[in-house]
Amino acid sequence: MKYYFLSFLFVGAILVSAFGFRGSKSELPPLEVFPDMDHQAKIKYQAVSEFFADGRGARMPVKGTVPMGFEIPAKPAVDGAKPARVAFTNGISYYDTGKMGDFYGDGLPTEITGDKTVFNDAFIKRGEQRYAIHCAICHGASGNGKGVTSKYGILTAFSFQQPGNTDPANAAAYRADGAIFDVITNGKGLMGGYGGNITVRDRWAIVAYIRSLQLAAKESGVTLPLQ
Ligand code: HEC
Repeated sequence: MKYYFLSFLFVGAILVSAFGFRGSKSELPPLEVFPDMDHQAKIKYQAVSEFFADGRGARMPVKGTVPMGFEIPAKPAVDGAKPARVAFTNGISYYDTGKMGDFYGDGLPTEITGDKTVFNDAFIKRGEQRYAIHCAICHGASGNGKGVTSKYGILTAFSFQQPGNTDPANAAAYRADGAIFDVITNGKGLMGGYGGNITVRDRWAIVAYIRSLQLAAKESGVTLPLQ
């Protein structure tokens, strides 16, 4: 036991002499047991570099590089023209998020409805096609939440055909357009997000198609068959 305590003291003394007391300061570089890639052969931004002929570490973007910001443009910008916005944008507008401030909005955004070349029968058809590709497997072709996955007992998804699905006051069954958009983008609960797979416009086309599914069922009074 005596030796145990003595060796304990000894180890303690060695540790303190090597590392110092807790909180004590040192000018020496810290001991690195695991370097964690802290030191790399790289050039820091804005720094000088002897490697390049012009002596600058920062390089000009390659010609035709697509600028990446909130919006990912469809094509490289051509001589100063604002690139057409497209696809997987990440802005803060209603069109990009389905939200107005902190709240989900309802209704399709004017970026869609304001342009008849976008908002027409083909738009709904596009939604139908995208829904069939991305959503029907779980939510069912009719939107009743019983897609093929439920047949195999994997999961039963949300039903767009629950009673009250067209009534905004029915919190259990109704989802605002913006809420559906947001779920497509980011997922919710057991459902994963599809923001990386479905373009912003296609997400709205799917929302429009889900609405047409719900309205068609309501108008016809038909109880949709289970898949
Ligand atoms: C892999 C299966 C799967 C796919 C594919 C899928 N969903 Fe879902 N979805 C679910 C499940 C499961 C839930 C229930 C999530 C929960 O409450 O945990 C759900 C819930 C929802 C909800 C309701 C969320 C809420 O507010 O409670 C909406 C809206 C929705 N999905 C829309 C869609 C749309 C639109 C698509 C196609 C782009 C889609 N989903 C694709 C499985 C899926």
